[in-house]
Amino acid sequence: MNIHQFDVIIVGAGGSGLMAGLYASRNAKTAVISKLYPTRSHTGAAQGGISAALGNVEEDRIEWHTYDTVKGSDYLGDQEAIEFMCQEAPEAVLELEHMGLPFDRTPEGKISQRPFGGHTNNVTGKPVSRACHAADRTGHMILQTLYQQCLKNNVNFFDEFQVIELLTSNGKASGVVAIELATGELHVFQAKAVIMATGGHGRIFEVTSNAYAYTGDGAALVLRKGIPLEDMEFFQFHPTGIYKLGILITEGVRGDGGVLINGKGERFMPKYAPSVKDLASRDVVSRAIYTEIRAGRGVDGSNFVYLDVRPETVNKFAEIDGRTNPDGTKYTVTGEQILKKLPDIIDFCRVYLGVDPVTQMMPIQPTAHYSMGGIPTNKYGEVIVDDHNTTYPGLYAVGECACVSVHGGNRLGTNSLLDLIVFGKHAGLKAAEYSSRVPFEDLPQNPEANVKNELDGLRQGSGKESVYDIATDMKKVMFDLVGIYRNEKDMQTAIDKIHELQQRYSQVKIVDTGRIFNTELINAWELGNMLQIAEVIAISALNRQESRGGHSREDFPKRDDQNWLKHTLVTKQGKELKISYKPVSITKYQPKERVY
Ligand code: FUM
Repeated sequence: MNIHQFDVIIVGAGGSGLMAGLYASRNAKTAVISKLYPTRSHTGAAQGGISAALGNVEEDRIEWHTYDTVKGSDYLGDQEAIEFMCQEAPEAVLELEHMGLPFDRTPEGKISQRPFGGHTNNVTGKPVSRACHAADRTGHMILQTLYQQCLKNNVNFFDEFQVIELLTSNGKASGVVAIELATGELHVFQAKAVIMATGGHGRIFEVTSNAYAYTGDGAALVLRKGIPLEDMEFFQFHPTGIYKLGILITEGVRGDGGVLINGKGERFMPKYAPSVKDLASRDVVSRAIYTEIRAGRGVDGSNFVYLDVRPETVNKFAEIDGRTNPDGTKYTVTGEQILKKLPDIIDFCRVYLGVDPVTQMMPIQPTAHYSMGGIPTNKYGEVIVDDHNTTYPGLYAVGECACVSVHGGNRLGTNSLLDLIVFGKHAGLKAAEYSSRVPFEDLPQNPEANVKNELDGLRQGSGKESVYDIATDMKKVMFDLVGIYRNEKDMQTAIDKIHELQQRYSQVKIVDTGRIFNTELINAWELGNMLQIAEVIAISALNRQESRGGHSREDFPKRDDQNWLKHTLVTKQGKELKISYKPVSITKYQPKERVY
């Protein structure tokens, strides 16, 4: 048995895990355990920017960022946490800059900023440039920068280790058990504090921008320990994924002047969001695209529309919209400028579609992108177990697997990278401080026994069901029946089907029973997590009888603050999922109708 001991263990090496690792390692013996090589984490897929009211390009204010985030969340975001995040944003971005992150620059040498959906000048109501960017590779640059900083700070890395169980002793987190993918050996990690930074679960949907690794492992591990998950019904569909493939086409395209065009060649967003048009919040834009498609205005009657960033189109609509540069001159772009601002998405379209966005329109459809819900935490990343904000000692969560909740019903673009950096830092600090004043808890007897049984059970399964078939069916059910538009009948059907799939999963058979890099075994284990998370999402969504943010019910089309201005908590009790609620923190902004 391989036994390791660290003060703080972080599970996951994306932006939040690395930031937490960096800060924890300054005061505590710290390890980061990741199922991937760190710089392959999904943060690397974040393209368009990280938000902060720096005001480098035009006037901006922290209060505007705060209000936009509250409004974008459809008033479900906890306002105390949102205020905290937006206040910390400028310093967080400058810290990344000082670590060496190669942000794009304005002509005067400041960090360059571009407009993004839902970020506005609160006086004029017009889009504001708040997204600090490194071309369309901002997440990639954050990962590289933080990984270098962690190495410099002697953070211990266990790469390609899949954590299979969270260990608890005496009601406190006490470590994790992981399988080393290269050897198939089990490792027990004893720790005083465990930070879950395992990312989201978009792979439960058929069309998604999420990496293969996004299978909801951390949320499922915590749920199995009787700890609730919060607001899981709120899943964001990003408006612009490459048709059928789901690969993200950054909102930065629209920030830089791109527009959405339907099958009749019409720019349709002014109909749905007269003020900010193509830069409305994502829930609004995704629904608008679907509404066009349902009305038969998809391209060639199909279920996609175009995103058009050809210079002639951008320049024409910039003129119509009266868009100007910060110095008041007319906003125009050339093909060369588009190439420079958006190199990755241009490559993706050329490689995957044979379409050149400088001269052709891109076929897009909404793609499952981001989970607003997750493991409930406070702003220090401490995991919350009930509606009284009681914390679970030694357990922390950050990033997409967590729900602080700063995104509420709908996240604004670029607020996720900010969330990773701000709350990663505070969770790392808090976990290190906690670990300095508590002893190690004794580990359970035979700490690896459950994991051994679980993995041996999967290896020895003698049924006839395939992981691939079950996963394919689950993704289709979730995309078709618990997607952008939802209703009671479809969601009940989805829940019944998920239960059937869970039955079939108990009969799963894997072919590779070996130990070395057994990805089939790991995929089978991940599928168990996805089925569990899919069930939680569908049950939470069926329960919430209103429309809010990314949760849009055809049978309850209005937001209902009277009955539903509250967070959902789902707890696993035996085989049952129990629903309870938690109040929303409201400081300055009383809910009102959202107009874009
Ligand atoms: O559109 C994008 O670049 C995505 C950013 C985000 O999800 O924050």
